[in-house]
Amino acid sequence: MPRHVILIGMMGSGKTTVGRILARKLGRAFLDTDREIEQYCGLTISEIFAEQGEAAFRHLETQLLMHLANLPRPTVIACGGGVVVRPENLGLLKRLGPVIWLKMSADNLIFRLRFSRHQSRPLLHTEHWPDVVRQLVAEREEFYLWAADVTLLADGLSPEQVALQLQQTFRTIEGRR
Ligand code: S3P
Repeated sequence: MPRHVILIGMMGSGKTTVGRILARKLGRAFLDTDREIEQYCGLTISEIFAEQGEAAFRHLETQLLMHLANLPRPTVIACGGGVVVRPENLGLLKRLGPVIWLKMSADNLIFRLRFSRHQSRPLLHTEHWPDVVRQLVAEREEFYLWAADVTLLADGLSPEQVALQLQQTFRTIEGRR
């Protein structure tokens, strides 16, 4: 089974942008779990939440994680921010390859999400979305920590800088194997 590189972290932490850059640097394919689920269902994430509920979406996420073990090529995988909330996902993530947490402060996330909160992020389709971000950060930090092999503090770094650091980290991890 190929070893993938798995990016986790809150909405707005830059997983997709960083993941694309990192994949290019490593000469790998890139996959975003939200886009895969949308393609599979023929619905947007917001439509899945509205029509089938969050639990159905979480179920699809788990099904996809199981399937990712069968990808033929080592791939950089950006996961939806809530992937860590289901306990069974943690083992599935670890099985896929090194898990990297792009950690960012709630203030920074809120600043970055002010224009992008409507994209595939139904949990933030509320007037009080900054409070939701703070609450999710508080609730999820221990799960991210638990799931991650490596934590990268991404506050104040550009996507290019984060990807460069991850490329170096990846070399170190793979060198140890
Ligand atoms: C979610 C994050 C989103 C998407 C869905 C739920 C979450 O992905 O999976 O809206 O619970 O944090 P991004 O982290 O890519 O925005």
